[in-house]
Amino acid sequence: MTRPSHGKDLDWLRSLSHLPILLKGIVRADDATRAVEAGVSGIIVSNHGGRQLDGAPATLEALPGVVQAAAGRCEVFMDGGVRWGDDVFKALALGARAVLVGRPVLWGLAAAGQAGVADVLRLLSGELSRTMALAGCATIADIDRTMVAPG
Ligand SMILES: Cc1cc2nc3c(=O)[nH]c(=O)nc-3n(C[C@H](O)[C@H](O)[C@H](O)COP(=O)(O)O)c2cc1C
Repeated sequence: MTRPSHGKDLDWLRSLSHLPILLKGIVRADDATRAVEAGVSGIIVSNHGGRQLDGAPATLEALPGVVQAAAGRCEVFMDGGVRWGDDVFKALALGARAVLVGRPVLWGLAAAGQAGVADVLRLLSGELSRTMALAGCATIADIDRTMVAPG
């Protein structure tokens, strides 16, 4: 299937700003390749929280294919379903530079305002540190694919 081109949209966006452009909503390797060829600075592997399309692929499953297609030519981030530090660890292990968090931040905000948001981020960070320690990773750079996909 020929996929529609959005190169013109990116050209238009680039004409408005010199800020780096991150393309959000990529879950396919071929779209990742096209995004890189269009010159984006980064890709956010996202299904928009699974709120648009029933049956959209899980972003953690889509991530390795996108990372492979990007082949280090742009940054790759991921969001969707990050609820614990372990989820962050898995995404980093599968090649994400970082993750983004949606609803947990909103829940923290609803529960306790700014302090609640800070709490959510502190919890995630603490859990990530604990998972790293348990997995024998002293630094983020020590986290690699073998931690989640042996062999
Ligand atoms: C209430 C709500 C509104 C959202 N609106 C948008 C939107 O307008 N555009 C978009 O790209 N993503 C939108 N998202 C998706 C988030 O940007 C993000 O991809 C998603 O929440 C990440 O998943 P998580 O909530 O499981 O962490 C929305 C999410 C929520 C919860």
